[in-house]
Amino acid sequence: MKKLILVIFCFVLFACEKQDGFSDKVTLVYSTNVHGLIEPCSCKEKQVGGLPRRVTAIDSLRKANKSILVLDSGDLLFKNRIVSEFDLIQDKIKAETLAEGFVFGGIDVMNVGDYELAAGIDFVKSLETKFKMPYVSCNLIDEKGKLLFEPFKVFEFGSVKIGVFGVTALEEITSRETKRILNHEPVTASKIVVEALKKKNCNVIIGLLDVYQETVKKILMENPEINFAIVTDNFIPNGKVEFTKKQWTLKALDEGKHLGILTFNAAEKESLSSFISSELILEPEIPDNPKMAELLKKAKEIINSKEETVRSELLTKGNFLFVTEKKCKTCHLEQHEFWKTTRHANAYQTLREKKQHLDNSCIGCHTTGYGKEGGFIRPIEVGNFANVQCEMCHGVGQFHVGKDKMIVRKPEEKTCLSCHEVDHTDYFNYKEYLPLISCTNAKK
Ligand code: HEC
Ligand code: HEC
Ligand code: HEC
Ligand code: HEC
Repeated sequence: MKKLILVIFCFVLFACEKQDGFSDKVTLVYSTNVHGLIEPCSCKEKQVGGLPRRVTAIDSLRKANKSILVLDSGDLLFKNRIVSEFDLIQDKIKAETLAEGFVFGGIDVMNVGDYELAAGIDFVKSLETKFKMPYVSCNLIDEKGKLLFEPFKVFEFGSVKIGVFGVTALEEITSRETKRILNHEPVTASKIVVEALKKKNCNVIIGLLDVYQETVKKILMENPEINFAIVTDNFIPNGKVEFTKKQWTLKALDEGKHLGILTFNAAEKESLSSFISSELILEPEIPDNPKMAELLKKAKEIINSKEETVRSELLTKGNFLFVTEKKCKTCHLEQHEFWKTTRHANAYQTLREKKQHLDNSCIGCHTTGYGKEGGFIRPIEVGNFANVQCEMCHGVGQFHVGKDKMIVRKPEEKTCLSCHEVDHTDYFNYKEYLPLISCTNAKK
């Protein structure tokens, strides 16, 4: 844990140890928007994030302070609001691994974000049962008006009582479940739950809010008792809420790259506005938790074995927009020979070596036409679409082959950037890189 970036808001902290090793000095550890990522890809050298490092980091924070709460404001399980039937098998395995890993890493409260519902409510419920995932949501209800999850959880450390509640956004829910899941209006539901927490004499109230900026604002205005709001909306800045001055919004970076950390002395009401807030980047220097790493390895093996047996019946037969490099080769042998010397022609083998050629989160940039019309749908069906082929740069060749030009001569920078994006490359410069892969080199 070398790099602890400390963003110090205020610096008045007195740790007063209580019996049982609990102190009034409470540490909140929070994450948001993990979006189905069990580990970072291996495209760049020093990737941050991943479950095995998360577990190690939380373990050592817990050793430093027993009064710790690990929270997540939602959108953990899936990348999209709806999972396609082709991705369902492996995305569910990844989601289960995330749930198991979060519980293993000691998650205390997990809000149900709207992305959690992408594979259906029964799936989320199954994680609650199977792994004891500590879900909360104060506004998701069934047809009979009954709450689907616990609305809040209460924790006691020393003389401190902390209430944590969750709110789910359903404004944009496109899940197949819309009929079975209803929602109470988030602001009203928050008022009810905050009243309940006040009755329980909570000195600190924390909201895990998976709602848009406007709704966050309303919830905080209506409930001045809320001290901290851990949010998922990327438009909300980390820090003091301008219009109330006494409330704070907190957000960690997406995809589990960071853990947000906040330490405050809960015994002193005034000190709630003086605390230390920092971000812990999950860097490669943080060792993997061995048990978590093993769990992850198993999950990837299961994904591979399941994907090896599936075949989609829905392959777009007869609609071969992509003609593949095999066809281009018949007329452009020289360029083909040159292409074979570039790393693009080896991109699929790279995934094979990592045993991740069946992983739907990798294959898109290391092959041709994945998920596109006339391409392929399931990783196992890669066939002639393996590697970054001609058509990923020159456009689909169906109308070019043997006829008029109908082809892109010089790929634009944005074509390259669709794969060479920041999360997957240490360095990319169009002007510098273009000559390296330009097929005009073939003539030289
Ligand atoms: C049946 C033969 C044939 C096939 C197959 C073929 N091409 Fe061509 N291609 C041509 C001909 C002929 C030209 C024109 C050559 C010229 O202008 O000197 C051409 C030109 C091009 C050019 C240059 C266009 C320009 O504006 O100067 C590109 C790029 C190209 N082809 C890419 C591809 C790709 C990619 C594929 C596979 C998807 C492919 N070709 C398949 C025959 C073919
Ligand atoms: C479909 C995705 C995709 C597109 C589009 C793409 N690339 Fe790549 N590129 C890759 C992948 C994946 C690798 C790494 C392959 C490997 O080593 O397995 C790579 C590697 C490279 C490398 C080698 C980098 C190195 O460090 O050695 C260069 C150079 C490069 N690409 C340039 C370009 C340029 C320029 C464009 C646009 C004209 C482009 N690429 C378009 C996916 C893509
Ligand atoms: C958004 C596109 C994209 C996705 C998704 C993607 N990659 Fe890559 N990958 C790239 C690009 C671009 C490069 C070339 C990076 C460079 O050298 O600049 C690359 C390079 C690599 C390399 C070679 C690194 C090296 O320097 O030798 C490995 C290994 C790799 N990727 C594995 C993966 C795995 C595993 C996944 C899935 C978890 C994945 N990739 C998902 C775009 C992608
Ligand atoms: C990473 C992107 C990329 C890939 C992959 C790629 N090309 Fe190119 N290709 C280029 C660029 C860039 C040029 C040069 C355009 C220019 O400067 O006018 C080019 C030029 C060409 C030309 C025109 C050559 C000339 O001398 O006039 C042909 C033909 C061509 N490519 C065919 C292919 C074929 C066939 C494949 C697959 C085997 C392929 N390309 C793969 C980027 C790519």
